[in-house]
Amino acid sequence: MDFTIEDIVLITCARGLVPYLITEVEALGYEVQSTHDTGLEIRAAIEDTQKLNLYLRTAFNVLYLLKKFTCTSPDELYREVSSIAWEEIIDSSEYLSIAAVTSSDHIKNSIFASQKTKDAIVDGVMKKCGSRPDSGAQRDNVALNLYWKDDTCWLYLNTSGKKLSDRTYRKIPFKAPLQETLAAAIIQATGYDGSLPLVNPMCGSGTLAIEAALIALKRYPGLLRSNFGFIHVKGFNKEAWVKVRKAAHAGVLKKIAKPIIATDIDPKAIDAAKKNAQTAGVDSMIDFQVCDFRKTPVPTEKGIIVLNPEYGFRMGDEKKLEETYKEIGDFFKQVCAGYKGYIFTGNLGLGKKVGLRTSRKLIFYNARIECRLLEYNMYEGTVNKL
Ligand SMILES: C[S@@+](CC[C@H](N)C(=O)[O-])C[C@H]1O[C@@H](n2cnc3c(N)ncnc32)[C@H](O)[C@@H]1O
Repeated sequence: MDFTIEDIVLITCARGLVPYLITEVEALGYEVQSTHDTGLEIRAAIEDTQKLNLYLRTAFNVLYLLKKFTCTSPDELYREVSSIAWEEIIDSSEYLSIAAVTSSDHIKNSIFASQKTKDAIVDGVMKKCGSRPDSGAQRDNVALNLYWKDDTCWLYLNTSGKKLSDRTYRKIPFKAPLQETLAAAIIQATGYDGSLPLVNPMCGSGTLAIEAALIALKRYPGLLRSNFGFIHVKGFNKEAWVKVRKAAHAGVLKKIAKPIIATDIDPKAIDAAKKNAQTAGVDSMIDFQVCDFRKTPVPTEKGIIVLNPEYGFRMGDEKKLEETYKEIGDFFKQVCAGYKGYIFTGNLGLGKKVGLRTSRKLIFYNARIECRLLEYNMYEGTVNKL
């Protein structure tokens, strides 16, 4: 298919991550046209989606606009979708998945909208090719997204397929793991680039430390994945893909200049974190240790320390955690001179127990929980007076 319409690409992300996504997209040389609560738009050709999928650390999906149209009934949806030459986009032997989001009086529910879209596509391919693609919920092959708001529909080719947060390295999630895209944004917010030590007590399954190692090594997350939606689209430019991957590989560093230290009191967490780091290919870059956070070795130079303690939303837990948060503050004061300290928490009340003055409070969302990344400057020499 000749993808020459308007070359509009919608890149989606979790709520709160748009500023970090903007930074990444601009660093790749694109101009952001507009932003939403959970994404942004750029102008880019279908081939550009390969690079975007490979490089972006904070994005969920890279969506290429196939068609925008006025729509006031399910039959109109069928007609409009039918007008696309689907036999040029999807092979009849492929598997197709449609995710629809609707907010319109013209349609009963999103499942009906996705069924109508699927019918129009498979009927179109059947007419031209004599056989029809299978369809279902798996997002591993050709994936489409339909948004229907009031009288307007947007139909996108989902060039990512599965969400890009699924980096494939987290085989063992352990307790309350951060989503990989959120962890990457937190690391980005700390300004970490590998030139300073990074210390991550309470590391759990290791997401923050692993994302930090990937950032420091300039190893782009798409290099960990072999499957993307665009690979399954007819006319997939394999040569361009090989080139994009090769160029990304060429920039990967062999070593990180400064240590990354990740610790947790639970040996099962460290076991999971080590295995996940191994799958991500960064286990040799992270010094994992089982210990209480207060015993974490902190290199005596400037650095970054980041913790994601539990939030204590279950009855009784919060009281115990008040002391833990206070002790994190004491640890920052007594042991982390010269460091920038960060606490990521969904419990703002517990955040106040740290007892240090914050230099910044950044808003994030962990699923539906509004969170803060609290930043503390532990200036050398003045640390005990904070
Ligand atoms: C919310 S989880 C961290 C999740 C992690 N960010 C991830 O993505 O997997 C909090 C972790 O703190 C650890 N922890 C709790 N109390 C601790 C303590 N006193 N010292 C060290 N680790 C502790 C728990 O074992 C748990 O793994």
